[in-house]
Formats: sequence, C-alpha cells, structure tokens
Amino acid sequence: MARRRRKLPQEPVEATVESLSHDGRGVARVEGKATFIHGALPGERVLFRYTARRRNRDEGEVVKVLQASPRRVEPRCAHFGICGGCSLQHLDPAAQIETKQQTLLDAFTRLGGVAPDEILPPLVNETPWGYRRKARLGVKRVPKKGRVLVGFRERGSNYIAELERCEVLHPRVGHSLMALSALIGTLSIPDRIAQIEMAMDDEQCVLILRNLDPLTEEDREKLRRFGREHGFIFYLQPGGPETVAPLDRPADLHYRLPEFGLTFHFEPGDFTQVNSEINRKMVSRAMALLQPARSERVLDLFCGVGNFTLPLATLAGEVTGVEGEAGLVARARANAERNGLDNVRFHVANLYEPLEGEPWLKGRFHKALLDPPRSGALEVLEWLPRLRVERIVYVSCYPGTLARDAGELVRRHGYRLVSAGVMDMFPHTAHVESIALFEK
Ligand SMILES: C[S@@+](CC[C@H](N)C(=O)[O-])C[C@H]1O[C@@H](n2cnc3c(N)ncnc32)[C@H](O)[C@@H]1O
Repeated sequence: MARRRRKLPQEPVEATVESLSHDGRGVARVEGKATFIHGALPGERVLFRYTARRRNRDEGEVVKVLQASPRRVEPRCAHFGICGGCSLQHLDPAAQIETKQQTLLDAFTRLGGVAPDEILPPLVNETPWGYRRKARLGVKRVPKKGRVLVGFRERGSNYIAELERCEVLHPRVGHSLMALSALIGTLSIPDRIAQIEMAMDDEQCVLILRNLDPLTEEDREKLRRFGREHGFIFYLQPGGPETVAPLDRPADLHYRLPEFGLTFHFEPGDFTQVNSEINRKMVSRAMALLQPARSERVLDLFCGVGNFTLPLATLAGEVTGVEGEAGLVARARANAERNGLDNVRFHVANLYEPLEGEPWLKGRFHKALLDPPRSGALEVLEWLPRLRVERIVYVSCYPGTLARDAGELVRRHGYRLVSAGVMDMFPHTAHVESIALFEK
C-alpha cells in the first residue's frame, strides 16, 4: 500500500541558520529538528518554506532573508539556485574555502577521531571563475522550449537546466552554450545527442559528442565548420567509452607544470585535474610536504597520467606509479619518456583488490603519495608500514574517506597526522579537495 504523503506546511517559518551542510545548504534547528535550508547561510535569520519532512530531518527553501550574513554576495550566474552545477555562489569565495576547511576538520574529528597538528593555509585561485576544463554536459531537445538545452542538471532533478552561459566552465565552453545548442538543433538527429564531454588544455578544446545514432555527412560538415569558427575539435562517441574517436584529426592535448619543466600529454577521456591553476599549486605543495630526496624510493598510488609521479621523479631517486586504468598507465609511461625521465616505473593494478604478490611491492619505499577517487584508499593502507614508508602525502577529493583513512593510519598503523589543508579546486560547488601529511 502506498504511504500517504504528509501535507507540508504552507506558511513560511522563521529560522536561525547555524552551519552549512556538506552540500551547501544552511542547517538550522527548528523545533529541535535539523532542517536543511537551500539558499541560507550560517548566521542568517531567514523565512523558509518546507520542501520535505522526514523522520529525522526536514528540508526547506529560503523565501526571504531577514538578516543576511556579512559573507553573502550576489551570485554571478543568472541560473544559480536552479542549476545543480553550483551550490555556493551566494557565499564570498574566501568564506567558501573557510567553510570547506571546517568541513575537513569536522570530518577528521567525527569520522577519524584525529586532528592535524598544523592546518595548512588554503590554496586559492587568482580568480575563482571560468576554471573548469573538464565537464560532462547533458543535452536534450525540448520542443516546448523551442530549443536544445545544453548544460548541467537542475538541482535535485534529472532535467537539464536551461542555461545561457556558465561562469565556472572555461569561457571557451561556458560562453558557447547557446551556440552549441543552436548547432545541435541544426543536426539531422537533434534528439539523439545525449551528452557533450569537454576536455581542454592551455590552447585546444575537445568536445566529445555522444551520438546515439550515426551522423550524416552534412552533420559532420556542420561540426567541422562550427569547430573552425569557435575553436573546437570534435570527437564522436557512438557507443561505450572505447568508441570515442576524432571526427577528423586527433587533438594532441597537453598541460604543463612549468615549476618542474614538465609537459603531460593526455587523451580527451582521460582523468586530469579540472582546475589547472590549483593543480600547479597542489603539485608544488605536495612536493614541499613530501620532500623527496635523491637517495629515496617513492610510491605514487592512483597515479593517472603521472601528474605527481613525474614531478616526484625530478626530485627522488626512483619512483613507482600505480594506476588501475591501463590507458592512463600507457600515457604515464609515454609522458615519462618524452620528459626524459628514466627513474620511474609504472604498473597497472586494482588497488582495491588484495595486492599480495604484486611485482612492484618489493624493497623499501621511503615515501608515498596517494590520490585516490572518492572511495578512498583503505584497502592499500596496510602496505605502507609493511613497505616501511615513513612519510605519506594523501591528496583527497572527499573529506569523509580521507578522515576515515587518517583514523586508520594513526591508530592502526602508527602514523601521526602532521598537517592538513584544503585547496580550492572546485569554487562555488560543495566539492572539497584536501591534502594531508602523515609521518611515522
Ligand atoms: C583522483 S584521480 C588522481 C589521478 C592522478 N594522481 C592525477 O593527479 O591526475 C584517481 C585515479 O585513481 C584511479 N583509480 C580508480 N580506481 C582505482 C583502482 N581500483 N585501482 C587503481 N586505480 C584506480 C583512477 O583511474 C584515477 O586515475
């Protein structure tokens, strides 16, 4: 039997907001119950309307801000609040990163039972706009709107938001959404383009069109012309990820880490860090924390195309990079060779599986760098003391798993959490990128 939905109170309710949730909503206690209010900031008094009531928490949406936070700012984007791409544009960027630092420290306490001896100053952007160089955009022709929508999904829904431009995507794409929308509208199969994936380097921008049906020669010619006019290189993806192929010529995407004199080549579908300015600062900070020396062997786990491995190899005696995706490992090897580094080895391995017998787990590693996906690195931690690693730098895109793993490193494996800090990799979104240093 279907449960009857309780009717939501229609009258706006007043609340004082205490903190910010990990997804950017203001949290207040209303009649003793935690209430997550979209659009509200800590310290504010607001009128809100309920959007959902549950057993242990309620949800709502601001109707009116009665007393605004001094950190509140005017969102730059006209679609803020509707588009699900950003959740913090109404908060001053300096306050955003302070909040993220608090999120990290709270996670350490709550989920890891640890605290860093030192908090590192946050790494921030010169300008927190137009930073994003990798993204997957939804595409949908909506006859009622008379056009094709290209953009992120709406907040809390599966619909594509009706965007005209985006302020966090690199402007090459962020300011071309309407042009892309018009282009797809002129193709023979506007209903059969499911998404556009962007990947760019310092000069070139690749757009991978996920085409569910074949394109005609006329369609292809339209893409070519558009590409020439707007500076895009088109790829098509008629099936799974393995079917991605250039429309004409392949792009030669590459990014640089000038501090280390390194250039990295990558394929449009490869994992690369989305924010190149913060990536440069992050790699420098990781090297400063780890301090690899010529006499040392270093392990780089979840190494991708070698973003940390190669800088490590310019400083350490010998470096071993391990990564689960064979394609990324192939790119990492080629990158080492092109940069003239012969003290680095790469291996393909699933780091969530038992590693006993892996050929690279031999001898002593003095230091290790870990940069896992959201799910963390719990499975490999036991190897660090076994390999006699004395210093670990852990880069994380999810405080919850970093905190859990920190608890494990400290209590079970005898490391000390020396320092930790946040990095503004994803301004205006609720994503938190952080870095932590552990020592034996
Ligand atoms: C956050 S990225 C970091 C990549 C690289 N360190 C960088 O800075 O560009 C995480 C990497 O972990 C890899 N990965 C995900 N699951 C894995 C697994 N089970 N075993 C090994 N690597 C995995 C991904 O392919 C990805 O390259």
